[in-house]
Amino acid sequence: MSTIIRQLEETTAFLRSRYPHTPAAGIVLGSGLGNFTTQIQPELEIPYSEIPHFPVSTVEGHRGRLIFGTVAGKRVVAMAGRFHFYEGYSAEEVVYPIRVMKSLGVDQLLLSNAAGGVNPAFSVGDLMVITDHISFSVINPLLGRNEPLLGPRFPDMSEPYSKDLVNRLKSIAAEEGIKLQQGVYYGVTGPTFETRAEYLLIHRLGGDAVGMSTVQEVIAAIHMGMKVAAVSVITDLGIREEDNVITHEEVLQAAAEAEPRLTTLFTKLIQKM
Ligand code: HPA
Repeated sequence: MSTIIRQLEETTAFLRSRYPHTPAAGIVLGSGLGNFTTQIQPELEIPYSEIPHFPVSTVEGHRGRLIFGTVAGKRVVAMAGRFHFYEGYSAEEVVYPIRVMKSLGVDQLLLSNAAGGVNPAFSVGDLMVITDHISFSVINPLLGRNEPLLGPRFPDMSEPYSKDLVNRLKSIAAEEGIKLQQGVYYGVTGPTFETRAEYLLIHRLGGDAVGMSTVQEVIAAIHMGMKVAAVSVITDLGIREEDNVITHEEVLQAAAEAEPRLTTLFTKLIQKM
């Protein structure tokens, strides 16, 4: 048996011994967006440090635990804090929790992230449902020997973000009076924010927003046949003319301000699952 399959079996056995139910959805919360967890009626919370083979989260704004519980009566498992490539984790470590979710029987994945806007029509605080992504600037988590028990060698990426879930998010936003942009998420490794020239290039290459997460997780999820939806909070704008200094604090503040709208979108989506 390959190492990854053995590790997944050990992690899954540990989690199942604590929590015997199958969640309907997995949720990954981005920087400054962890407050969604207050919507969860918790049944079990486990710090990452106690889960066999889990990496441990370090970045500011993350609390590093797996939460099992219910949202709107539906069972979910949520990561409060994700693993970023820029923290020094390998691409395989970044996606390990996603693989664990699938091993637990989770078929739908909801992700949030903070992102920089490069579409001139965007404002700070906007939500953007991700319709597609560009991953060429990040390390693909499927590099290396393929594990056929997880998925195919050459996964199709024509619909990384489920059209069905994107449409449902749009309908919910319309019903709730929440402004929802849509667009292409351009993945980068960070940890530097982009230079002016890089923001412009990303826009010219087809990106609407740029961020340091999500893409690797989505690739691993699609590899395993999961259905994915993701929403970015536009926390800063990369292509302003004026002096444009971007700080992590400003990103966290914009994320916190947008968080209640994101929470509404995710809660209603889960309710209808
Ligand atoms: N660039 C990359 N990642 C980000 C940004 C940004 O401007 N804002 C939040 N995450």
